[in-house]
Amino acid sequence: RPAPLIDPFQRAITYLRLSVTDRCDFRCAYCMAEDMQFLPKRDLLTLEELDRLCGVFVDRGVRKLRITGGEPLVRRDIMQLFRRLSRHLGSGALDELTLTTNGSQLARFAPELADLGVRRINVSLDTLDPTKFREITRRGDLGVVLAGIEAARTAGIKVKINAVALKGVNEDEIAPMLVWAHARGMDMTLIEVMPLGEIDGDRTDQFLPLSVARQRLAERYTLTPLPDRTGGPARYVRVEETGGRLGFITPLTHNFCESCNRVRLTCTGKLYMCLGQEDAADLRAALRASPDDALVTRAVIEAISRKPKGHDFVIERARPAAVPRHMSVTGG
Ligand code: GTP
Ligand code: 5AD
Ligand code: SF4
Repeated sequence: RPAPLIDPFQRAITYLRLSVTDRCDFRCAYCMAEDMQFLPKRDLLTLEELDRLCGVFVDRGVRKLRITGGEPLVRRDIMQLFRRLSRHLGSGALDELTLTTNGSQLARFAPELADLGVRRINVSLDTLDPTKFREITRRGDLGVVLAGIEAARTAGIKVKINAVALKGVNEDEIAPMLVWAHARGMDMTLIEVMPLGEIDGDRTDQFLPLSVARQRLAERYTLTPLPDRTGGPARYVRVEETGGRLGFITPLTHNFCESCNRVRLTCTGKLYMCLGQEDAADLRAALRASPDDALVTRAVIEAISRKPKGHDFVIERARPAAVPRHMSVTGG
């Protein structure tokens, strides 16, 4: 077997996040500006090329693949990519093929995703109030997303709810959303807003430290810390009263980079070693130079050898955004 990918801080890279498009049918106020310049479509790698790149990572020990965006399910013919990638599940090379989605297209795709071996997905949902949902997403329809979540559950896919905690916007909904999610057997994760890309406004106004949310919840619920098992950034508690899990992703208030296991690939073939750093390796030239994967593999190994220790986000630098690229380019 080829050597696995180990970074300079002895972290094994076993998780690849692939952003298949920077486009989205929503314009969440903390994520994007109303008026966005998206990448020209001619810059996109084909689905075949994305599949080939993923294959290089799987050969090098990546065990988990998450398809993200933008909204991954708005990329044309995206199910063809899932179909190709699912062969790595069949061969045992991959433990998990999953996606993070805003849920708008889930009703249509859930059965096929389940057939292709997708077992768990993360759905972004910041509120259960239809008016507020429209305000936050600017274009989304809550009913459609809730129907998508139901379709996924009906298809046998386990759903986790991701909610970005927004001061003065949804902080009063954290407890009710938790109760709602747990009653349906769904875990929930809260995320601190990160300074990625320009938006219309200043994220400092939206930033809610999750320590505050956690303290408030602890006044009403028994939160029992769980050992970290996912290797992801979230730290989980069990909420004894509701019986579900609640995760906290706290890049701003509690850094989790020492256990980072992931890198990110964009739809144009750039490999980002960290969500919060600018450094990227362009894999496209190596990919197109030869049908043999040796060049790409070498470029990947070289890139991983300069994975930084961590991000250096601070919310005071929210404007201009600490990192110029939006979350939708690198897929969170
Ligand atoms: P699980 O497989 O359920 O653990 O998912 P995950 O947390 O890896 O993926 P998900 O797409 O649900 O990620 C939720 C959010 O966590 C992302 O959109 C980011 O906002 C944040 N996040 C994930 N990984 C990182 C990371 O390495 N650094 C930082 N700063 N944030 C991250
Ligand atoms: N900070 C934190 N989370 C963000 N997301 C998008 N932009 C940001 C940001 N600037 C969230 C989405 C989704 C996940 C992929 O990332 O709501 O849940
Ligand atoms: Fe789209 Fe997700 Fe960004 Fe909302 S957070 S605009 S759903 S990419």
